[in-house]
Amino acid sequence: MKAVVYHGPMDVRVDDKPKPKIEHQEDIVLKVTRTTICGSDLHLYHGNVKGMEPGQTLGHEFAGVVEQVGDSVDEVKAGDRVVIPFNISCGRCWFCRHQFWSQCDRSNPKGELGAVYGYGQMMGGYDGGQAEYVRVPYANTDPLKIPDNVSDDQALFLTDVLATGYFGADIANVQPGDDVAVFGAGPVGYFSAMSSLLRGAARVFVVDHWPTRLDKVAKIGAEPINFDKEDPVERIKKEAMGKGAVCIDAVGYEAVGHHSHDASSNPAYIPQNSLQVINWIVQVAHKFSTVGIPGVYMTEFANFPFGQFFQRELQIKMGQCPVKLYNEQLLHLIEVGRIDPTQLISHRMKLDEAKRAYDIFDKKGEATKIVLTP
Ligand SMILES: NC(=O)c1ccc[n+]([C@@H]2O[C@H](COP(=O)([O-])OP(=O)(O)OC[C@H]3O[C@@H](n4cnc5c(N)ncnc54)[C@H](O)[C@@H]3O)[C@@H](O)[C@H]2O)c1
Ligand SMILES: [Zn+2]
Ligand SMILES: [Zn+2]
Repeated sequence: MKAVVYHGPMDVRVDDKPKPKIEHQEDIVLKVTRTTICGSDLHLYHGNVKGMEPGQTLGHEFAGVVEQVGDSVDEVKAGDRVVIPFNISCGRCWFCRHQFWSQCDRSNPKGELGAVYGYGQMMGGYDGGQAEYVRVPYANTDPLKIPDNVSDDQALFLTDVLATGYFGADIANVQPGDDVAVFGAGPVGYFSAMSSLLRGAARVFVVDHWPTRLDKVAKIGAEPINFDKEDPVERIKKEAMGKGAVCIDAVGYEAVGHHSHDASSNPAYIPQNSLQVINWIVQVAHKFSTVGIPGVYMTEFANFPFGQFFQRELQIKMGQCPVKLYNEQLLHLIEVGRIDPTQLISHRMKLDEAKRAYDIFDKKGEATKIVLTP
């Protein structure tokens, strides 16, 4: 079968690999119908994830049709259309029983963290779903059935970015009437903004510097702020009732730095500045608020502004989204037509074109989300 395989930094290829088999009685083999590239795949692509070895199939965002089921699987059957959370959760350990789905204690035999598809040895070493087929373990727990009136495209983002965006708004405790500042207009920022509005936010500002991405968030009712053209701290402080906003960091450690606000400079060449968003947030988050951080941070930073967080009495909530906590209810919002996640899709490409798709998504620019079809 065809699979998108990691060969090293900036080097992904579509290779021929053996089709996966049932290895355990609770496995299914899924025929993938849709998959997509995530900002988290870019950390792998940039060679920043420890334990990512050449040869692993990439991809933790996918939906498909159940092809084969293990002997003890009774929650799904061959032919069912399902979408799979990116976290692999056993359903029975202490963490799963307490709905801490992203920190399953059994799914990752290689480490302490909960397992994730296609994310290297540190996250369990499972092959991912940017492929024609993928093995899905714990199939009595993880798959979410897609109803007939919802398309695969509509359900696909329940695998991660829609749930993670909602998680951002949830951990930041967005309440009706809040003014919210979302940093990052990538897929996670887009759905954090949508979710903040769903939860009743009064105004939602979204900070980024890619016009195409900012235009997309404006279409759902958020207010874009281009940090190449204006100072986001000044603007948010002025507009959010003078007291600041509830903040969501949907960027993470690959944040690029603030620069001269010279609109002619090319955003692609601004250097990485991992704490840029944190340093903005510590100024604009309203005192006593909770900062939600779905954006990924993988290492420690000695210059993290800990003192300012203490003085302004800011709380921080962060981590990997426990997708199963949210995906059923978000599916219902899609089913009844309250939200349409497909508006985020900018490109539809064949799995064969994955190399080019990674390059396009990595450059951001025109791409908001790329859907790949095997
Ligand atoms: N917590 C989770 O479970 C989870 C799940 C999915 C993704 N993520 C993480 O969320 C982050 C975003 O994911 P994505 O798919 O939207 O990625 P993405 O790379 O497509 O988007 C990131 C956006 O941040 C913008 N950005 C960079 N520096 C900025 C700055 N200083 N201020 C404002 N915006 C800035 C970029 O221009 C880009 O549009 C990544 O770190 C990803 O790994 C976390
Ligand atoms: Zn993802
Ligand atoms: Zn578990």
